[in-house]
Amino acid sequence: MKLVLATSNKGKVREIKELCKEYEVISYGELIEEFEIIEDADSFKENALIKARAVFEALKDSSQEYDKDLVVIADDSGISVDVLDGKPGVYSARYGGKNANDKENLYKLIKDIKAKGVESSPAHYTASIAIVTNKGEYSVHGWMYGVALTEAIGDGGFGYDPMFIPLGYDNTLGELDDEIKKKLSHRSKALDLAKKIIKTF
Ligand code: IMP
Repeated sequence: MKLVLATSNKGKVREIKELCKEYEVISYGELIEEFEIIEDADSFKENALIKARAVFEALKDSSQEYDKDLVVIADDSGISVDVLDGKPGVYSARYGGKNANDKENLYKLIKDIKAKGVESSPAHYTASIAIVTNKGEYSVHGWMYGVALTEAIGDGGFGYDPMFIPLGYDNTLGELDDEIKKKLSHRSKALDLAKKIIKTF
């Protein structure tokens, strides 16, 4: 079965492909031209559904790529920091400004945690995975808890990983092996649940 990913985030595409090796996974940009999707909901769940529905409809409209068994999946995810009352949350991708890149977002988060007068804060990642098919729409979630630091260490992973230490570890996701993130991550937990649903199709 082919899974089409409604994302152009290279870090997510790499991780989802790695976590779903039993399926053929392609990003929608390999089938049709990528387009802007406005994620204006205030929950991870709704934003993931917005993305998956938009790509499902676009593929349906492009007769060439339409297949009645089409399965589109989208991931909406982010980091929530306790000392910032849960920010950036659903705004994680644009925390440093509308067109901010991963590094700018990361250093803005470090600066804002420092401004609270602390060196670190409990934090967690959330991933909501939406699945859109002809049979219906589904949503699942996964979480990873840990600590957000006021420094970036290591260059593994993507996004906020260099400043995040998962619970039970002493190193950031920027330093830890990819295999460890694969076991622990919010995305892998949500995808485990998503795969249980996909298996029933
Ligand atoms: P969106 O889901 O495309 O709106 O973007 C989520 C944003 O959250 C990404 O751009 C990253 O900044 C951050 N994020 C989500 N998951 C991860 C992760 O596994 N590691 C690091 N950053 C992440």
